[in-house]
Amino acid sequence: MSLRPGGHVRWAFDLAGWRPTVADLLLATSCIQPEEKQRLAKFVFRDDFNASLIGRLMMRQFVHLATGLHYDRIEFGRDLKGKPFLKNDGIYAVDFNVSHQGRYAVLAGLVQGGDGPTVVDGKQPRIGVDVMKIEYGGGKPLGEFFRLMNRNFSDEEWRYIRSQQDENDQLEAFMRNWCLKESYVKNVGIGITVDLRKISFSIRSQRLDTKSVVCDSTLKLNDDPLRNWRFEESLIDKDHCVAVALENVPADNDLSSNCFQIIDFTTLVEGHKPLLAIDEIYCDGIIGKEYKNVK
Ligand code: COA
Ligand code: MG
Repeated sequence: MSLRPGGHVRWAFDLAGWRPTVADLLLATSCIQPEEKQRLAKFVFRDDFNASLIGRLMMRQFVHLATGLHYDRIEFGRDLKGKPFLKNDGIYAVDFNVSHQGRYAVLAGLVQGGDGPTVVDGKQPRIGVDVMKIEYGGGKPLGEFFRLMNRNFSDEEWRYIRSQQDENDQLEAFMRNWCLKESYVKNVGIGITVDLRKISFSIRSQRLDTKSVVCDSTLKLNDDPLRNWRFEESLIDKDHCVAVALENVPADNDLSSNCFQIIDFTTLVEGHKPLLAIDEIYCDGIIGKEYKNVK
């Protein structure tokens, strides 16, 4: 597999369908940076460990394929808010972001160059992604939950959510809006430390599906429409919505076919080169962690 310059990558990994063998685990944990290996060991549940591990493998494989950098020489850092970035000298025109929730870990990445126009107004394209499981298991009635979440959405967004005809549709609209907001926040890397009511989306297409990408939702920040931003929305399956926030991606870049592709473990580690020695003691500790049994 190689990645087309000027292209986009949308990968989804089915975490619920992955129960790694010991060999998989030994291999995977030899392909992450030491500080990330230490961080991963702190997760209580295997599900969270697996999700975060797969995110790291996705980043490495994406950068390897997109830049041609040697697999084991790729180095990621995190900024002050925790957002991962590529540390290798800044000549590699890629950006990427990872999200994991429900049964999926996802990566959205973009590669500059090739046929695709490169920059808008001299600015680098940037990407953020968020995946959400469309479910509510909060115990309280949905209306009560919405009231508690009041300050996270603008009046316009609540009008849209509450205008849906039944609770299922309202929940889907809520999750879709949440996903859009998080994709924006994750693109700029600020984390949820801003007033989310000031980040207000207008949703146009009523329905999302798994086979096409909706790109017509728009964003106002502090009441000002944002230029040079585009948002892709789709479903990975009927229970998971995903949003990708793109900044400075030229308007003539057609995004409508950017559905998420399922990637399996073999493909994810194809051509890998270990960074670290095989660590059986570490993996014994991980195998001892329990699954939460997320469906
Ligand atoms: N911006 C963008 N991406 C980030 C990020 C940031 N600030 N921090 C982490 N990520 C990436 C990582 O790859 C992370 O995976 P990892 O946890 O396995 O390393 C992934 O995004 C997690 O994304 P997701 O699965 O969608 O998690 P989430 O829905 O819980 O949201 C944040 C992630 C970053 C938006 C959220 O956790 C947040 O608001 N954090 C606060 C950060 C902050 O500003 N802290 C201030 C401390 S005072
Ligand atoms: Mg998220």
